Amino acid sequence: MKLCALTYVWLFLLPGTAQSLRNGLALTPPMGWLHWERFLCETDCEKNPNNCVSEKLFMEMADKMVLDGWLDAGYQYLCIDDCWLAPKRDMNNRLQADPIRFPGGIKKLSDYVHARGLLLGIYQDVGTHTCAGYPGSQGYYDLDAQTFAEWGVDLLKFDGCYYGSLTNLEEGYRSMSMALNKTGRKIVFSCEWPFYARYIKKVNYTEVAEYCNSWRNFADISDSWASLKSVMDWTSAFQNEFVPVAGPGAWNDPDMLVIGNFGLSWDQQVTQMALWSIMAAPLLMSNDLRDISFESKALLQNQEVIYINQDPLGAQGYKVLKAGYFELWEKPLIKGSLAVSVTNRNEQGGPGNFLLSLSMLWSGRACKDNCFVTRLLPTRHIYGYVKDTSVLSLWVNPSGTVLLRLD
Ligand SMILES: *[C@@H]1O[C@H](CO)[C@@H](O)[C@H](O)[C@H]1NC(C)=O
Ligand SMILES: *[C@@H]1O[C@H](CO)[C@@H](O)[C@H](O)[C@H]1NC(C)=O
Repeated sequence: MKLCALTYVWLFLLPGTAQSLRNGLALTPPMGWLHWERFLCETDCEKNPNNCVSEKLFMEMADKMVLDGWLDAGYQYLCIDDCWLAPKRDMNNRLQADPIRFPGGIKKLSDYVHARGLLLGIYQDVGTHTCAGYPGSQGYYDLDAQTFAEWGVDLLKFDGCYYGSLTNLEEGYRSMSMALNKTGRKIVFSCEWPFYARYIKKVNYTEVAEYCNSWRNFADISDSWASLKSVMDWTSAFQNEFVPVAGPGAWNDPDMLVIGNFGLSWDQQVTQMALWSIMAAPLLMSNDLRDISFESKALLQNQEVIYINQDPLGAQGYKVLKAGYFELWEKPLIKGSLAVSVTNRNEQGGPGNFLLSLSMLWSGRACKDNCFVTRLLPTRHIYGYVKDTSVLSLWVNPSGTVLLRLD
């Protein structure tokens, strides 16, 4: 009887007990750079040579990732999104990159990226066309997987536009996952299956995790506080459906980090970095690494915050409660540690005061007798040993977040 109860507790607490895609990849959330939010589908290289989706853009980002410490900080995947393709497949039905914007083809770009210690991500779609209208993979899953493997691709983001029927959508994601496996090349598989299927049926996340290393659930992020809030609200509203499935090799993806762009204030950037770490989200930045402020760079490269995201336990954090304007989230870490965030959703006035009783955390299991508390964001501060009966008085800026770690 007692043994059974214990087993149950372990099953409930351990993340990733569902069988995840067994390709041995993404044991911690993938980190890197993805072009979409910042560069979208800019294909006019005459008018906008420095910002069009071209091999030049990716080579420049690759150089920056190495020179400016991004790779050292853990950002390893350089990812191409939509709009890299030529309008048609070649004579042998193979995909081809746009010959003007990618004159060397994807293989040359992947060699360039690999020579610098980075990995290359690419984009395709389960349906007849990509979202921007380029040729999709439907009907060509094996051929396209083989092509990507030959090019040396390391991650595939697989979108869901123009999928046709629910059967096509689901079979398409399963087929591509198996096609990637058959190539023998280790390719991270990033899906949008739940995002498209949710409108039609209740998604079986256990099954999604068997075929995908990460998956999008919700709409594309944009460079705004409104968008960031909508991701947080949606994720916490449905967290019981998909948080338990997250774990090594299987991640919920709330979409790109937009830190370092135009739309978020400093405090809002802190909120995104803190919450994406709590959510064990893939950390895929979409910004211009050639032109980013010192502050945004330091925030994105904050090692202690990245550790929260990359914690080997692989538990996804969740919202614990909302009290007035404040939201409290927590994420269990390895060896009984805990990450905690408090966000102030008030958009008026000055810093707000939140009284954090440590007994509120992890159903009262956060600290035994006492624990060592460190504030990681917005600035580092050591509280030191704090009794489990203590109440911490936190001041949180409007639309900002305080991120703590309890050991
Ligand atoms: C393919 O799947 C098998 C069984 O799940 C696994 O052992 C193997 O590592 C996979 N190979 C690749 C390249 O993902
Ligand atoms: C969800 O998928 C898993 C794995 O494929 C399967 O074992 C389970 O029966 C499915 N659950 C439902 C409710 O269909």
